Amino acid sequence: MQDKVTVVDHPLVQHKLTLMRDKETALPEFRRLLREISLLLAYEVTRHLKLQSVSVETPVARADLPLLAVAEPCFITILRAGNGLLDGMLDLIPAASVGHVGLYRDPQTLEAVEYYYKVPTDMSQRLAIVVDPMLATGHTAVAALELLKRDSTGDLSFVCLVAAPEGIATLQAAHPEVPIYTAAVDERLNDKGYIVPGLGDAGDRIFGTK
Ligand code: URA
Repeated sequence: MQDKVTVVDHPLVQHKLTLMRDKETALPEFRRLLREISLLLAYEVTRHLKLQSVSVETPVARADLPLLAVAEPCFITILRAGNGLLDGMLDLIPAASVGHVGLYRDPQTLEAVEYYYKVPTDMSQRLAIVVDPMLATGHTAVAALELLKRDSTGDLSFVCLVAAPEGIATLQAAHPEVPIYTAAVDERLNDKGYIVPGLGDAGDRIFGTK
């Protein structure tokens, strides 16, 4: 496995992802599973947040106890499918702020073009967790991270549900310092750019648009 790629192999994550991949899984169930698996992925990506010791008076005694030493992370969603990961992640970290990045591919130049961009002003002080369910070619993730680096000198991480080896290679070549968290690394991309076996079009499955 490539450096800086964490495959979250927790049995509950793997079980939920398999149910999500099934084409017979209907919209309400797909959304419920996505909310649950997103929370578990957020748990893993925040594993290394720094703690400090504070003095707390419990009903029984005073004790030095751990508390986050840093501001809560922010989530940066790559529109539109990234939004599907937010509910579960915000269940886990309700104080997280949220940024949005919208990109489309220009059919002539094939360049990623920004159509929406709004991120928290204090992003450099927080771990910024970029979320998109499918890391396919990796081009959108690369472009989103380039935009974020304009505004942040802080730590960046990337979280997806399913990654293709091609997407991981592209993302790591452009942003080698950014850790990638995924529930699975699949076989390959097909000629339409879908991940095989994947779970289909994540946006359509989250929002019921097909
Ligand atoms: N985007 C998706 O939603 N699914 C894929 O398989 C690839 C890109």
